[in-house]
Amino acid sequence: MADKINIVLLAAGKGTRLNLNMPKPLCPFMGRTLVDFVINEVLDFCASEKLEAEIDLVVGHQKELIIDHVKQNYPGKNIGFIHQKEQLGTGHAVQVYLEQKANAEKQNLTFIMCADTPLLKKSIFKEMYQMFHSKNLKGIAASFQALNPTGYGRIVRSNQGFSIVEEKDATAEIKKIQEVNSALYLLSTSHIKENIFNLSSNNKANEFYLTDLFKPEFAVEPILFEDAGSFEGINNLADLEMVEGHARSRKIESLRAEGVRFVDASSVYIEQSVKIGKGSLIYPGVHLMGETILGSNCIIEPNCILKNSKLATEVKVLAGCYFEDVEVDSHCQIGPYARLRPGTLVAEECKIGNFVETKKAKLDKGVKVSHLSYVGDAEIGANTNIGCGFITCNYDGANKHLTKIGEDSFIGSDCQMIAPVQLGDRVYIGSGSTINKDVPDDGFAIARERQVTKPGMASRFLKKK
Ligand code: UD1
Ligand code: CA
Repeated sequence: MADKINIVLLAAGKGTRLNLNMPKPLCPFMGRTLVDFVINEVLDFCASEKLEAEIDLVVGHQKELIIDHVKQNYPGKNIGFIHQKEQLGTGHAVQVYLEQKANAEKQNLTFIMCADTPLLKKSIFKEMYQMFHSKNLKGIAASFQALNPTGYGRIVRSNQGFSIVEEKDATAEIKKIQEVNSALYLLSTSHIKENIFNLSSNNKANEFYLTDLFKPEFAVEPILFEDAGSFEGINNLADLEMVEGHARSRKIESLRAEGVRFVDASSVYIEQSVKIGKGSLIYPGVHLMGETILGSNCIIEPNCILKNSKLATEVKVLAGCYFEDVEVDSHCQIGPYARLRPGTLVAEECKIGNFVETKKAKLDKGVKVSHLSYVGDAEIGANTNIGCGFITCNYDGANKHLTKIGEDSFIGSDCQMIAPVQLGDRVYIGSGSTINKDVPDDGFAIARERQVTKPGMASRFLKKK
C-alpha cells in the first residue's frame, strides 16, 4: 500500500537579505516564482510514486500574497497553509505546523523542506524515500559537500551517531567540516510529534532548531548527495542570479537532449515553461519567455524576444524581432525587426518583413506584409499582398475599429485604411490611397491627388549657390 505523506514547505521567513519588496517565495525565478519550483517538483514526485500527500506551506511574512499566488496557480491541488505568526526558528515552524494540522498523524511520513531551494529534484526525494524504507529509520537529513560551508549546519558523524550543529554553535573543529545540512528532511511523523515540543531554544541564535531532531540518540542518518547543485538556496540577489543561471543551464541541457540546437547557449535567456521542438536552432541573444512554444525545425535568429508565443513547425524568425502573445503557423518567415503584439494570429506560409508592427491582426494563409507597416485590428484574407508603408488607422481617438481585407488582393504601397472599412476579395488599391469607403469584390480603388507637373518651375525652389 502506498504511504500517506505530509509535505511541509517552510516559507515564513522574512528573506531580509534578498532585499526585494516581495516575500521570498514569490521572488521571480525562470518566469515563475521560487515557491513554484519546489511545489511542482513535489507534486511530480508524489504523482510518480503514487503517494497520497498532504501539502502545506508554513507562511508568515506577507502570507496573503503567498496564499493568493498558490490558490491561483494550483487550483484543485489542495495545498494548505499554516500560519506562523512569529518566526522563532525552523523547529518552531514545525511545532506550529503540528498544532494547526489536525490530521498530520494520519500520514506516517513527513517531508520537510524550504521554499527557497528551487533546484531540488524528485530523484532526490525518491532516494530518501527508498532509504527510509530499507533502513527503518526515524529521520533522514539530506547533506552535501560545500566548498564553502560557512552559514550551514554541519553534519557531525561520530561513533555515537550523527547530529547537526549550526554554524553559530559550532566549535572551530566542527566549522572545518564541509559536509552540510541541506534542510531537506524525511522523518517519521511520530518522531516529530514525540520530540518537536521538547526542543530548547538555548543556543546562540535563541531559536528552536529543527535540526535538533537529529541527535545521536535517535535512529536518524544523513544521506550525502554528490549533486550539491540541487540544494543551492537563495539568500541574496547574488545567489538569485547564480542559481537562476544554473536552472537555465539545466533547462538548456534538457532541450539539447531533445534535439534543440543552440549556437551559443550561454547568451540565451530561457524560462522554465518554454517548450521547443526537435531540430530547432536558437541563435545567440535570444530570449524565450513565459509559455512560449516553438515547434520543430524553427530558426530563431539573434536577439529576438518571444513572450507567451506559439510558433508551429519550420517558422523562421529573422534577427531582432519582438513577439508577445502571438500565434504563428508553420512555414512563415518573420522579420528582421518585426514587432508582433498581442492577438496577432498568423496562418501558414505568411511573410512579415522588416519594421512591421501587428496587433490583434489575423493574417490568413500566404499573406505578405513585407515592409514598414502597421496592421492593427485587422483581418487579411489568404494570399493578399500588402505593399510597403501600409497603415491601418484603427483608432479615432476614442475607439478602435476593424479593417477587413479579402483574399487574393493587392494593396499598393503607402496606403492607409481609415477603419472601420472593409475591402472584398481580389481588390486592387492604387499606391498612396487613403481608403475610407468599402471596396467590393474585384474592385479597383485609388484615392489620391492627381499629379501636377510644371516644366521649368523647379529653379524657383532650388536654392542658388
Ligand atoms: C537552516 C538549517 C541549517 C541548514 C540551512 C540550509 C536550521 C536550524 N538550520 O539554516 O542547518 O544548513 O538551513 O540552508 O534549520 N523558516 C520559517 N520559520 C522560521 C524560521 C525559518 O518558516 O521561524 C523558514 C524560512 O523561510 C526558510 C527556511 O525556514 O525557508 C530556513 O530558514 P533559515 O533561517 O534560512 O535557516 P538557515 O539559517 O539557513
Ligand atoms: Ca537559508
